[in-house]
Amino acid sequence: LDNGVSVSFKVNGTARKLTVDSRMTLLDTLRERLDLTGSKKGCDHGQCGACTVIVNGQRILSCLTLAASCEGKTVQTIEGIAQGSTGATTRLHPVQEAFLKHDGFQCGFCTPGQICSAVAMLDEAKKGHLSYVSENVRQPAAPAKLSNEEIRERMSGNICRCGAYPNIVAAIQEVHSGKPVEQI
Ligand code: FES
Ligand code: FES
Repeated sequence: LDNGVSVSFKVNGTARKLTVDSRMTLLDTLRERLDLTGSKKGCDHGQCGACTVIVNGQRILSCLTLAASCEGKTVQTIEGIAQGSTGATTRLHPVQEAFLKHDGFQCGFCTPGQICSAVAMLDEAKKGHLSYVSENVRQPAAPAKLSNEEIRERMSGNICRCGAYPNIVAAIQEVHSGKPVEQI
């Protein structure tokens, strides 16, 4: 393979080693080489968030990330978000359950990215990181309680063409607050 590079990384807990074109994005690698088609290609330009996955605990846009840059890293995609093993014992992640409960989707195209983004965002909030500002800017510790406005702001990189935003915010707020949330 011209421009071929070898890359070893962990995807959803499984070690993977493959040779990819050095120009290949993580998104294309996941979808075309590893058959993980949950991550969606909405724009391929970093504008929609449909391709969001979690790398080393941080949400990133896989369409703007080269697979070769993930050497030695840990990648989590929507296929690896549910907790437990596969089969009957698999439990959905609380964010997935909340999206179902609140109808946080219509067509579902943006949903894998929304859920990966929300899972990592709630973790950012716990740690006081506001990484939506930019990769290298960290704001002071986030408030323990995120307002709906803050959730909207932190999730603003994930576009939903169906406009399911109120339901998405309600789902995330319910997981964040640990209390049932009425319609927003
Ligand atoms: Fe990556 Fe749209 S496909 S941001
Ligand atoms: Fe259709 Fe969000 S549910 S784009």
